[in-house]
Amino acid sequence: MTNDNGYLLQVRDLHTYFYLHQGVVKAVEGVNLRIRPGSTLGVVGESGCGKSVTARSVLRIVEQPGRIVSGEIVFRRKMKGGQTEDLNLGAFRDQSREMREIRGKEISMIFQEPMASLSPHYTIGSQISENLLLHQDISKADARDRTIELLRDVGIARPEARVDAYPYQLSGGMCQRAVIAMAIACRPSLLIADEPTTALDVTTQAQILDLLREMQEQIGMAIMLITHDLGVVAEMADDVAVMYLGRVAEHADVDTIFHDARHPYTQALLRSIPTVGSEARERLATIRGMVPDPFNRPSGCVFHPRCDAAQAGLCDVETPVTVEVAPNHEVTCCACRG
Ligand SMILES: Nc1ncnc2c1ncn2[C@@H]1O[C@H](COP(=O)(O)OP(=O)(O)OP(=O)(O)O)[C@@H](O)[C@H]1O
Ligand SMILES: [Mg+2]
Repeated sequence: MTNDNGYLLQVRDLHTYFYLHQGVVKAVEGVNLRIRPGSTLGVVGESGCGKSVTARSVLRIVEQPGRIVSGEIVFRRKMKGGQTEDLNLGAFRDQSREMREIRGKEISMIFQEPMASLSPHYTIGSQISENLLLHQDISKADARDRTIELLRDVGIARPEARVDAYPYQLSGGMCQRAVIAMAIACRPSLLIADEPTTALDVTTQAQILDLLREMQEQIGMAIMLITHDLGVVAEMADDVAVMYLGRVAEHADVDTIFHDARHPYTQALLRSIPTVGSEARERLATIRGMVPDPFNRPSGCVFHPRCDAAQAGLCDVETPVTVEVAPNHEVTCCACRG
């Protein structure tokens, strides 16, 4: 296990399957990802391509009957005295001491729906304090003071009063701010944000993205930002991983993805976003066909039945390997790896 390039997180050839009565769902089938310290990786792809399962695998919170079958999740953990150590999170048990120490402290996660992270039965203040008390050696009174400070940092007005509010007393945007406060309470080095703004209205979305960026700068944390929205990616991401049916089709810096995409799937995704100034009545390109049934993955390259560049006898037969076509630019495609 090596991580010589100074990445904060490197996911290598990760496979996560769900074992159902009807068969095996290969939700993640050989994912490779990497995140530099302090940077933002946008993870995009159509519904069902394995974005959330990848994120949950990193945190070791994959739901039953799912489990990590193989692969490495190399996380560079900070230790006292400024040293670091590389840990393969894939090798720990979900409930191991190591994972309980890392979850919520060094890697934390926010979900699309704020109520998935908050309990309706406790005040937001007690939920944030709980995370502080779990991971830090501080008194209850200090945890409460720190919680009020955190609520102020995430833009909640009158935090001294709101600290005792229950989630139902706050708007969706306020709740998501509280969730962010909880996620950053222990100053994690990686924040995984799974569709953090999809449930919010457009104005609130923009405010939450601004807040994430501000907190990132303040804490120096990296963000794995999962989103359907390429506009959000353009605005937030340094690097982008484009996923299709359990694999990463293309991985590069954001400019390369938008201006020099090689994978036909990435190119098709880019054609499906509206551009300012395009004719109002012009129809948006859509990617033909549907994402295949996860029980019946196509042979060869899983994208070939929908791909305009597919070559018979090659793409329907050969499983593509991931090739570095330029520094920091990887493509998983039989037809375009040259
Ligand atoms: N608990 C589960 N049990 C069985 N299958 C699951 C479970 N969770 C996810 N899957 C399957 O794994 C695949 C990947 O799902 P995942 O939730 O990671 O997709 P996603 O990319 O996050 O999609 P979306 O954009 O809709 O959130 C899908 O085929 C899904 O049906
Ligand atoms: Mg998801």
